[in-house]
Amino acid sequence: MEMSNYSVINDVFEPPLAVNPSLQANFILNDQSIAAFKSRVVDGLSVLSQQFENRAKPFSGIAAEQLRELFSCLSLEQPLHSFSAALDELKSLYFNDAVYFHDGQYMAHLNCPIVYPAVIAELLLAAINSSMDTWDQSAGATLIEQKLINWTCQKIGFDDHADGIFTSGGTQSNLMGLMLARDNFCFQNLAHNVRTQGLPAQADKLRVMTSKHAHFSVQKSLALLGLGFQSVIAIDSDAQYRMCPQALERALQVAQERAELPFAIVATAGTTDFGSIDNLTAIAAVARRFNVWLHVDAAYGGGLLISNQHRQRINGIELADSVTIDFHKTFFQPVSCGAFFLRDRKNFNYLTYHADYLNPANQDPEERPNLVNKSIQTTRRFDALKLWLSLRVIGADVLGGYFDQVINLAAELYQTKTLHQDFEFLHHPELSALVFRYRCSDDSLNCHVNEAVRKKLFTEGDIIIAGTKVDGESYLKVTLLNPNVDSQQLIARFGAISAMAKQLEQECVASVGESHD
Ligand SMILES: Cc1ncc(COP(=O)(O)O)c(C=O)c1O
Repeated sequence: MEMSNYSVINDVFEPPLAVNPSLQANFILNDQSIAAFKSRVVDGLSVLSQQFENRAKPFSGIAAEQLRELFSCLSLEQPLHSFSAALDELKSLYFNDAVYFHDGQYMAHLNCPIVYPAVIAELLLAAINSSMDTWDQSAGATLIEQKLINWTCQKIGFDDHADGIFTSGGTQSNLMGLMLARDNFCFQNLAHNVRTQGLPAQADKLRVMTSKHAHFSVQKSLALLGLGFQSVIAIDSDAQYRMCPQALERALQVAQERAELPFAIVATAGTTDFGSIDNLTAIAAVARRFNVWLHVDAAYGGGLLISNQHRQRINGIELADSVTIDFHKTFFQPVSCGAFFLRDRKNFNYLTYHADYLNPANQDPEERPNLVNKSIQTTRRFDALKLWLSLRVIGADVLGGYFDQVINLAAELYQTKTLHQDFEFLHHPELSALVFRYRCSDDSLNCHVNEAVRKKLFTEGDIIIAGTKVDGESYLKVTLLNPNVDSQQLIARFGAISAMAKQLEQECVASVGESHD
């Protein structure tokens, strides 16, 4: 190794200050700089371990304006020329006040704690920097991704006509499902090729049916696909917030009577708020009867595929035409790591584009598989390596066991009778999310007090939970994804939330009293 361009500072090799522009090349990662890179990684890791070890809560509670002030006097025109100074600066700009999902007191959104083999993979894939569009930019990485796709197809219960592709997450996967469903419908039923001709004349009649509790990316996708929010028909759900198959069937009949063109049903296996799982088998039967594409959004519930205890809850997923799975939700992977699956790989043809410079049409896919043929991205990260290293080091049983643990925890919490004295729970949890509210003695205070609880918790930073609205009323929500938390700790946290709510309720009653005086 050539070391002449490195100096020794504090017993580590520090790349030289970039006084001489010709030396800046030393920061390019290669055989010359790998030793310096390695020691800088260790420096970065020591900052990380200090943060993890000295941290007592998931969030400092800092206000946005306080953080914004630190940025206002910082100029990116003046580099610090020192890795350790840049790391030090980051402590105040980011590390000290980040929101830490690995902390068991973080229970807000669908952010899981992550397994560390996947984080090592993240570093390796960034360092090698493969791009997944073509074989000539990825080689073995393409085969690793394809192996994981085939493995997941088997877990879904698809046969060997199926295929898939890694995506940036549920939003992109849902967009792909709806785009292919639209293009397949137009091609099969209207003899119209959307890819080459744009939207058909009947575009304003195209419809998608989904539950009221489906993820908003369904609406967003339809806007992006040129069909607008108006194309979404929201189907009623039952008391457990699952799409009602009878209501779906009625909506399809009405659509037919109105000469509308339903081209897709989106069922959700794990809604964002409630974790409720639509009856996939019944919905698939309706989809078949009306000859409509079924997309299953299993962004949250996908982890059930590797669960030893609860796999049956996602039965029927194998009947879907397309499926969304987010490994960065319930497979304990770092953001981003998602995938999209098709029961019939031929449907990927609707999005394939052959560029002479990249993936010419005459290239033999057996000889050179080009994953860009199945993706809406061109340059694409090798996110699959994270799941690969996790499965090879830890194994699917352990990952599935983590998900089982949080599902069981949510059930145990719901069954804890004492909690029902102070709180109203809206549903029996099917996965690991619970929507609830503190019940004030005066119902008219419920919304105000529960919103105030959530805000106060966030500014204190000890316990981070989410909020949502159901039928116009404000509720609190926890999404349990940390398998290191036990039920006693959780019950104690609910005790703390209840005490805070009682105090806020009293303050609220007192201030109403004062305003009447
Ligand atoms: C059911 C469901 N689908 C899709 C998404 C979107 O996923 P992503 O944030 O990975 O794009 C979410 C996000 O929470 C979700 O809960």
